[in-house]
Amino acid sequence: MEPSVEDINNILVVGAGAMGSQIGMLCALAGYNLSVQDIDENMLEKAQRQLKSRMARNVEKGRITQEEVDAAFERMSFTTDLESPASRADFVIEAAVEKLDVKRDIFAALGTTAPEHTVLATNSSTIVSSRIADATSRPDRVCNMHFFNPALVMKCVEVVRNPETSDATVETTAELARRLGKHPVILNKEISGFVANRILGALMDEAISLYENDIASFEDIDVACRMALGHPMGPFELMDLTGIDVGYYVRMARYQESGDPEDRPAKSITEKFEKGELGRKSGRGWYTYDEEGRKLR
Ligand code: 3HC
Repeated sequence: MEPSVEDINNILVVGAGAMGSQIGMLCALAGYNLSVQDIDENMLEKAQRQLKSRMARNVEKGRITQEEVDAAFERMSFTTDLESPASRADFVIEAAVEKLDVKRDIFAALGTTAPEHTVLATNSSTIVSSRIADATSRPDRVCNMHFFNPALVMKCVEVVRNPETSDATVETTAELARRLGKHPVILNKEISGFVANRILGALMDEAISLYENDIASFEDIDVACRMALGHPMGPFELMDLTGIDVGYYVRMARYQESGDPEDRPAKSITEKFEKGELGRKSGRGWYTYDEEGRKLR
C-alpha cells in the first residue's frame, strides 16, 4: 500500500531531545495522535516539563488558547516502549542521536514493527537516508525529513529522497510538513548537510577560525553577525542552541567518510565536547543557561 497523508492519524517521534520533543508538540498541535519515545525516562520527563512551560508562555502571550494546549497534550503520550507505538504509527520521525549505528538499529526495529504503509523518516541532517534505508525492508518508504531548531518556530523542513524513495513517500512527507505549518524544501538528490546546513556550515567554520586565531572574542563575532549582518542570532549562540555535540558528531562523521584531517571538529569544539559543555541543554556551552534554556551570560 502506497503511503498517503490522508491515512496519517498516529505519528511516532523517536527521541525526546530538543528536536524530537518540539517536533512531537507540532504534530499534536496539528491534531495528530502522537507518541514520543525515548530510552531515557529522564529525557521524557524533561521534554514534558519544557514543552509545558513553552506552551504556558504561548498561552500567556495570547498565541494559543489553554483549551488548544490541553487538547494537544491529551493527544500526546511519552514512553520508553518502542514496539507498541510503532505498531500503530502511520508515520515515524526519528530524531535520536546523530550516530549511524543507533539509527540503523532503530530503523531495523521500526521496519519489522510499523504497518506496511508507514513512512519511516529521519530528522538527521547529515546521515542521508540511503545509509539507513537498507536496515529496513521498505527503502522506498524511507527519507529524510529535516526540521530546524527550534522546530516549533523555524518554518522550513527539508525533504530529501534517497535513490529508492518513492514519489508517494516524498509527497506524503512534504504534505505532512505543510499540515504542521512548515514550508517543505525538496532535495532531488542526497547530499550530506542538505541545503541550509551546508550554507550555515561555511559561516560556522569562518566564525570558529576567527575565534581560534584570536581575531575577536566569540561574543563580538556574535555581535557582528547580529548587528552587521542582521542574523537573528550569532554563530556561537546558534551552536549552543543546536548543541555542540551535534556539530561535533557531524564533523566526525564527515572526517570518517573523507579521511581528510581538515574535516575533523575544530579544537575549541572538541574541548567543549570533551568537557560536556554542549550548549543550552547542558546549561553551558559558549554561554551559560538556566534550566529553561534562558541565557544567563
Ligand atoms: N524553543 C521554542 N521556541 C523558542 C525557542 C526555543 N528554544 N527560543 C525562542 N522561541 C520562540 C518563542 O516563542 C519566543 O518567544 P517567547 O520567549 O516570548 O515565548 C520567540 O521564539 C522569540 O524568541 P526570543 O525573543 O527569545 O529571541 P529571538 O527573537 O532571537 O528568536 C529564535 C529566537 C527564533 C531562535 C531566533 O533567534 C532565530 O531564528 N535564530 C536562528 C535559528 C536558526 O538559525 N536555526 C537553524 C539552526 S540549524 C539547524 O537547526 C539544523 C540542525 O540540523 C542542527
